Parts: sequence; structure tokens; C-alpha cells
Amino acid sequence: MAGIDFNIMLIGFMGTGKSTIANMLKEKLQVEQIEMDTLIAQEAGMSISKIFETFGEEHFRDLETEMLRKFQEKKPVVVSCGGGVVLRDENIHIMKGQGKIVLLTAEPDTIYERVKNSNARPILNGNMNVEYISSLMEKRRARYESAADITVATDGKTVEEICQEIIGAVK
Ligand code: S3P
Repeated sequence: MAGIDFNIMLIGFMGTGKSTIANMLKEKLQVEQIEMDTLIAQEAGMSISKIFETFGEEHFRDLETEMLRKFQEKKPVVVSCGGGVVLRDENIHIMKGQGKIVLLTAEPDTIYERVKNSNARPILNGNMNVEYISSLMEKRRARYESAADITVATDGKTVEEICQEIIGAVK
């Protein structure tokens, strides 16, 4: 399937593979890929951790909402969203208006293995363990599920298989 005329917004908990999947989808669909966190950090001139530390989480969430609005003009793109983008109803509304929202899921153990050596995620700083990941995931579960048009469980699947599943579902 070459080309799409809508945005694909990849959502899901930290470490569910949004960036990796977006990177392959971009090749398969021949569209631009956007890393939301990277772009926010670029525009702010500081890392996500530094934004949290300097201005607090609410400010970061405001930057996320502003950034999401800009993707309307960029259509069609594949966007790898920050894991907390579903926390605001407004964000879900903006994303729904731009295309398909694809939720990637993974087991807490899988997530822990992927994120344990990174200190780039302020939400997990000081809470880097499976129990915390599992409880935060549970807290957010309903929001992820209600935002999603398509849900893909990623455990035990290759990047290729996940992309095929997404492409098959969004067509
Ligand atoms: C966050 C997830 C991060 C980043 C920020 C907050 C969250 O993105 O936006 O650290 O609240 O889940 P990734 O999901 O890309 O790690």
C-alpha cells in the first residue's frame, strides 16, 4: 500500500515501540515521520527532562497540545506521539480529526526491559520498576483504549508483522 491521505497517530505507553514502528511505516507508506517528543525538544531548545524540570509537567502538556494542532497541515504523516498524549480529551479530539489513531500495547515486563536503561523519561525517574509501570499503565488504560481506532498488541511480533497489521487495518 503506497500512500495515505490521512495521518496515522501512534499512541501507547512509553516503550511500546511507537518510534520504531513509525520508522518502518514511513518507508512502507512513503510518507514523512514525525517524532513528537523530538520536535517539542527541538522547538523548546531543551530536552523533555529539562522541560519537566524547568517548567513542570503541565507546561509540557501544553506544548504537546500545541504541537498536535500543527500536524493538521502536515497531512499525510506518521506521528509517533508521546505516551501521555491521551491524558487530555482535547488532544484525542485533535488527533481524531486528523486520521487514524493506532494504539500499541506491550506487557509491563517487556516495557521495563526496553526503558530500564534510559533516564530520558521524567515520568519514570525514581519509579523505574515493573510494579510502577504496571500500575501507571492500568491508570491510563481506559484513556488509551477509548482513544484508539485500532489496537495492536506487540509482544512476540516482529516490526514487520506489526506494520502489516496496522496497514491492513487502516486501509
Ligand atoms: C510521557 C512519555 C514520553 C514523553 C514524556 C512523558 C508519558 O514519550 O512524552 O516523557 O507521560 O507517558 P514516550 O512514550 O515516547 O517515551
